[in-house]
Amino acid sequence: MHLVDDDGSLEVNSRKNSRRATISQSLRNMKAAEVSSTIKENAVVVDIVEGRGRVTGLLHIVSEDAYAFATVTIFMFDIMGNMATELRTGSKSLRAIMGQLRSKGVGVEGENQKETLRVLCYDTTSWVSDAFQPAVKAFNADPENSFQMMVDFTTERGRLGVNMIAQRAAGFDRVDTKAARAYGMTVARVPAYSPYAVAEMAIALLMAVNRKTPKASSRVKMANFSLDAGLLGVDIHGKTVGVMGTGKIGQILCNIILGFGAKLICYDVFQNEEVKKAGGVYVTKDGIFAQSDILFFMMPLLPATRHTLNMDVLPKLKKGMMLINTSRGGLVDTTVLLQGLRTGVISGVGMDVYENEQEYFFQDWSAKSIQDPDLTALLGEPGVVMTAHQAFFTKEAVNKITQTTMENLRDFKLGKREFDHPNNCIPKDN
Ligand SMILES: NC(=O)c1ccc[n+]([C@@H]2O[C@H](COP(=O)([O-])OP(=O)(O)OC[C@H]3O[C@@H](n4cnc5c(N)ncnc54)[C@H](O)[C@@H]3O)[C@@H](O)[C@H]2O)c1
Repeated sequence: MHLVDDDGSLEVNSRKNSRRATISQSLRNMKAAEVSSTIKENAVVVDIVEGRGRVTGLLHIVSEDAYAFATVTIFMFDIMGNMATELRTGSKSLRAIMGQLRSKGVGVEGENQKETLRVLCYDTTSWVSDAFQPAVKAFNADPENSFQMMVDFTTERGRLGVNMIAQRAAGFDRVDTKAARAYGMTVARVPAYSPYAVAEMAIALLMAVNRKTPKASSRVKMANFSLDAGLLGVDIHGKTVGVMGTGKIGQILCNIILGFGAKLICYDVFQNEEVKKAGGVYVTKDGIFAQSDILFFMMPLLPATRHTLNMDVLPKLKKGMMLINTSRGGLVDTTVLLQGLRTGVISGVGMDVYENEQEYFFQDWSAKSIQDPDLTALLGEPGVVMTAHQAFFTKEAVNKITQTTMENLRDFKLGKREFDHPNNCIPKDN
């Protein structure tokens, strides 16, 4: 089988040998009659670029052991660049069309004839493909499943014929639910994966901020075994610890905090009876700001919670308090946080999320210049311990994310659409 690659070269995979050749070589190898009949029977117009340099890309589809190639009909010779682009587009479309043919059991001998759900996995990093590939394999091997899944991993954007968004996260503040509804798309999420993972990470951040473990560890690795005031922390035991948002994660966090022997105060729009039974005391919003030596943000990002830490709140905080935020960056006005750190109102902050993280998190920026002055300022502050949205990242949570996502896809395929989907996250009044 021959496939046009992204770089325009032709990949040749026959059963007996494997080699690469240029398109022109391969076309030359074809008999004229074969070329002509392939074009007549199998040509598919993949793209037409209208306008000054009109370009048409044709794909010629194959059966096993035959040739597949893309041709471009070009009407203006001064746009060779477009042609190269078109070939690249063609090669991607070719793979997609080949995949579709396979998924319908067309033209490929001995292939599983089960119907296939095609899934495009966006914005993927290696942990995503590492976790999903075995899960997809297991799903496809399970005779109980009446269809199979084919998952492509991509970082490209666009609707591309997508009818469902299967969020791998609980929060869906980054989904344009109005647009999704207008397109009749189903949007499902993973409502809970491991509340323990996030609660435990919040504690890890607290201990890192309080006991300066990142700094201490890097000093020891440089053979500096001295102690100085820069490493001095406080006992959590006996401190007043505030938790804003006592839902699934917040409740687990409350139990851990009580284990330290701290005084637990809470704020939520709904009081959690379990938290109260365990020893948490609900106070007013101003009360939690004024009394907390340590304050955890555990509520979702909503219009009502956006910039919970703001200029009005800063003077209400207990001087020298520590703030821990594993929920969403938008809960904190970064300018106010920086001011709090510089004036000593906030002695330290543990943050797994950052207000403008989209541009940076989940990518390696170590060799590039960061253009966001607030982010640069935070990274330079000694009281800041920042991680890049990894609070969820435990084996247990990843397994749960993978499993629930597969179930969400299955339910969609079995007819649970839009509001009927069990993990739908488009509000009814959207
Ligand atoms: N960093 C990560 O990797 C990560 C992973 C999972 C979840 N999260 C974040 O953690 C948040 C909490 O998750 P959860 O599973 O506990 O959610 P949850 O829905 O179980 O709990 C949220 C709690 O916040 C409360 N709340 C709502 N509005 C409030 C307000 N105005 N003031 C105070 N409390 C309010 C709710 O009543 C609820 O008790 C999620 O919304 C998400 O943003 C982060």
